[in-house]
Amino acid sequence: MIKLRNVGIIGTGSCLPDKIVTNSDLEKIVDTTDEWIKTRTGISERRMTDENTATSDLATVAAMRALESANLSPEEIDLIIVSTVTPDVMFPSTACIVQKNIGAINAAAFDLEAACAGFLYGLSVAEGLVRAGSFNNILVIGAETLTKILDFTDRNTCVIFGDGAGAAIVSEVPEGYGIMSTYIGADGRDGHLLTVPAGGSRIPSSVESVQNRLHYVKMDGKEVFKFAVKIMGDAAEKALDKCGLTKEDIDYLIPHQANIRIIEASVKRLKISHDKVFRNLDKYGNMSSASVAIAIDEASREGLLKDGDIVVLVGFGGGLTWGSAVLKWKSIGRN
Ligand code: ACO
Repeated sequence: MIKLRNVGIIGTGSCLPDKIVTNSDLEKIVDTTDEWIKTRTGISERRMTDENTATSDLATVAAMRALESANLSPEEIDLIIVSTVTPDVMFPSTACIVQKNIGAINAAAFDLEAACAGFLYGLSVAEGLVRAGSFNNILVIGAETLTKILDFTDRNTCVIFGDGAGAAIVSEVPEGYGIMSTYIGADGRDGHLLTVPAGGSRIPSSVESVQNRLHYVKMDGKEVFKFAVKIMGDAAEKALDKCGLTKEDIDYLIPHQANIRIIEASVKRLKISHDKVFRNLDKYGNMSSASVAIAIDEASREGLLKDGDIVVLVGFGGGLTWGSAVLKWKSIGRN
């Protein structure tokens, strides 16, 4: 019988564009206020790429930083998975562009799309592949330039999202630490709640599709909110259950950074104290699949995660999709 390997994250990295867009900046272009955005979402500012920067550019920097923290060379990566809803182009995949940029000449590469749950989907796929021995060092990246697909005349969406990229390297680690479980799910029946309608095969790009603003994010915020509040708690508990733990075992929670009210509702449901919950959405807004990836990198670099901590990652997104993971933490670079 094949012995399954023990798997964990051995390096992380992230990249944020320099340009900061504050709520006051948005007040000047759309009918909103700093006060509304802060109280209804918890966001104060977000990052925005310039016209010359694409998703792969952010992903490349995040990947190089993750390699550095894991002390690996690009040649040692054998698979790259990029999760994104904002690829550079329809094809080739953003993963192939990153492969070229970092010189990961021995890596296979593909994109995965599960909106904001995408990084957790990537982590789950990578965990299975390394555990089974199919791959050794998988670079999982969540990268987005959402500001490129936002309608800056639509106050329901343009105040919420931002740009960024986060990366993690998933490899074999010693027994006793690492990824204890992952859980992913989807419900395509409610896919219409969050979508970019045009630019695919259903509504190919045309003058009309552009005039009708169909290449921008459309969202039924209220319905997504209701779904999110329920699924965040459910998904966290499901992953805990899979590895024989309960919500009482959580030492640190890293939730998707969509809305402070969604995070607070999840915290209440899981009955954990606020100081055990990572938050950076005030600075960055919702960066879709990059949010959880950047959050792990920041939490790790800021020393918020202690060796032996039970860390729960949880997210939800368009699709609809959701995902969670339970990690027994070990400091990066010392695995
Ligand atoms: N500024 C001022 N007023 C606003 C703004 C704004 N930016 N946006 C909406 N409003 C108004 C609405 O028009 C509405 O006015 P009305 O009552 O006169 O019609 C009022 O504020 C209340 O609107 P609601 O939609 O009820 O506001 P709500 O409290 O639900 O907050 C929000 C809206 C922030 C979008 C919230 O519903 C939310 O966070 N939903 C979840 C969204 C989310 O997480 N999406 C990402 C999913 S991840 C992915 O895959 C990409």
